[in-house]
Amino acid sequence: APRLLTTPAELRAARASGPVALVPTMGYLHEGHAALIQGARRLVPGGQVVVSVFVNPLQFGAGEDLGRYPRDLPRDLEIAGAAGADVLFHPAPDTMYPAGFATQVSVGGVSEGLDGAARPGHFTGVATVVLKLFNLVQPQYALFGEKDWQQLAVIRRMVTDLNVPVEVRGVPTVRESSGLALSSRNSYLTEAQRAQAVILSQALRAVQAAYAGGERKTATLEAAGHALLDAHPDVTLDYLNVVNGDMQTGEMVDNSPMNRVLVAARMFGVRLIDNMPLAAS
Ligand code: PAJ
Repeated sequence: APRLLTTPAELRAARASGPVALVPTMGYLHEGHAALIQGARRLVPGGQVVVSVFVNPLQFGAGEDLGRYPRDLPRDLEIAGAAGADVLFHPAPDTMYPAGFATQVSVGGVSEGLDGAARPGHFTGVATVVLKLFNLVQPQYALFGEKDWQQLAVIRRMVTDLNVPVEVRGVPTVRESSGLALSSRNSYLTEAQRAQAVILSQALRAVQAAYAGGERKTATLEAAGHALLDAHPDVTLDYLNVVNGDMQTGEMVDNSPMNRVLVAARMFGVRLIDNMPLAAS
């Protein structure tokens, strides 16, 4: 099992002199997190893999699921260890945000639309905690999932803009065989509800199919996804949008492999997100 550390002082004392790779998480680990940890292990074979588990209050809005976010530290230690982690960093909230804490990292541009619009302050909370974790762990590498595509874009923007000496790596989304993207929030759903939630990945596949068929008009591509979601009684759609590599929308898309289709919807009281490249692999 990995070493469980809870304070910055312990982390400093345990830090290896060689290469370090960090995988930030909010815990309740699943195979998607495990893929990131395995990727970290491969990046620094003889180095140190640090997994952080911290349910970051700063990135939850009022009325969101901070209070009921799932937690299981013993299981997280097991999964992180099996995937190759050396250290699991699990700080208390007041360790990260002691009295007097007053600084936040606000990323513009890529933070502004989509989830940034739906969840005001969310990406500021994410960028702030991630920069803190980078400064605490001082890793050479940090790995993030493509599952949270806009989050990955926000972290890359911050690292570039603030000259943060960390190499950010994206890892493809891990899915159930049904197509449903793995997420800690799937634990809120019953098995029958999870079966309904595959509609989101099916809508993204429908957009990919339209793109593969030669469609390049953004509105028509998006309509292919809307057709499935609008017909589903349990979907309250937040957005389904086609964006380019800068998270911008245009009237037409080109053939860039960075073009992406992103979806967010509420199903059975749970907010779910997913995305895929327009060009299916
Ligand atoms: P969390 O939702 O726990 O996700 C931690 C990391 O795992 C993120 O980089 C996320 O994109 C990745 N991930 C989640 N599900 C995945 C899947 N099915 N396939 C591949 N990767 C997946 O994202 C956060 O936590 C937080 O915002 C955090 C970055 C830790 C800051 O608090």
